[in-house]
Amino acid sequence: MGSTWGNHLKISIFGESHGEGIGIVIDGFPAGFECDMELIRRELSRRAPGQSGLATGRREEDEPVILSGLLNSATTGAPIAIMIKNLDTRSKDYEQLRSIPRPGHSDYTGQVRYRGYNDIRGGGHFSGRLTAPLTFVGALCKNFLKKHHNIEIGSHIYRIGEVFDSPFDLTLTDRELLAQLQMKEIPVLDEKTAEEIKETVINVKSDLDSIGGVIECAVVGAEPGIGSPMFHNVESRIASMLYSVPAVKGVEFGLGFALAGTRGSKANDCYTLKDGSVRTKTNYNGGIAGGITTGMPIVVRAVFKPTPSIGREQKTLNLVTGKEENLWIRGRHDPCIALRAPAVVEASVAIVMMDLYLEAYGYDAK
Ligand SMILES: Cc1cc2nc3c(=O)[nH]c(=O)nc-3n(C[C@H](O)[C@H](O)[C@H](O)COP(=O)(O)O)c2cc1C
Repeated sequence: MGSTWGNHLKISIFGESHGEGIGIVIDGFPAGFECDMELIRRELSRRAPGQSGLATGRREEDEPVILSGLLNSATTGAPIAIMIKNLDTRSKDYEQLRSIPRPGHSDYTGQVRYRGYNDIRGGGHFSGRLTAPLTFVGALCKNFLKKHHNIEIGSHIYRIGEVFDSPFDLTLTDRELLAQLQMKEIPVLDEKTAEEIKETVINVKSDLDSIGGVIECAVVGAEPGIGSPMFHNVESRIASMLYSVPAVKGVEFGLGFALAGTRGSKANDCYTLKDGSVRTKTNYNGGIAGGITTGMPIVVRAVFKPTPSIGREQKTLNLVTGKEENLWIRGRHDPCIALRAPAVVEASVAIVMMDLYLEAYGYDAK
């Protein structure tokens, strides 16, 4: 199972949606870091469903129990282990899924891969719930990167269905803007978009359906020269982490897929001196060239598919009878995963940046 990740910051995630709990072990985090537990709790609650009616009705308080590696809020250098208890489970909602797997979910592939031994309740280890421990680590990394390297990582909902927010200015330097977005219930740049998004999600939910979206994330303050070409390149590291998040089906940097319709004379980011530092006038490459940071903001977009579990009737295969039949999915599901995703995307990017900064700075290395 591929539940371990990282070169210098090594994380190992565990748990199932309806088991005792979920959690993560973090190896390699520098000793002596006074972490802001309030900030970590805030990030976890940004990801949690909340009471808005726009997310699953499942109550997820996501209070992390620290098992090791933190003493009086400071990291000890030992592996940090945390666990989050699963409190509000209704496992009987999932009984039929072994024979009639949900389209778009992991019920069929998980059973084939693990010979039927996988825990199917609530999606088991494939559940979006596993992004809670990921958000914990990401918040810790965000906290460290801000304090030690003045790096701010923030995001907004760029798109839900056919509702679009304004995109980030690819050359943005405004750390305050990124910090403010993290305080919003629906983080968007144009306030009117928030209402349109709410309306769209409410409509989709009342249609017993779900909808996709795009989260745009920016890293401001990353210095030039971080990363490597080929397999440890910054794009491939960030993409590998983002694609590890359940329901992510696309990742692009800078102008991304729009580069296909762009001429080199427009897409090249020309160098200039700004306040004595080398910068680029534009940032169509999203802050990365040759797999290495340019010193411009890293701008990345992640596409979240519509939630696979929908309330509508779907015709699909019964694996026991070999016949197609109607499936009505029970359980409490998110009508729009992307709404809960900004904190998860920021966390994913922060974990990668932390791994790269540990490589560059060799904290605690002997
Ligand atoms: C924050 C979050 C919440 C999610 N909530 C649900 C949900 O309520 N119902 C559901 O079917 N899938 C949900 N998912 C998505 C599934 O976990 C995911 O689609 C499934 O594991 C299949 O993986 P794949 O979509 O990456 O192929 C959620 C994902 C995330 C990141």
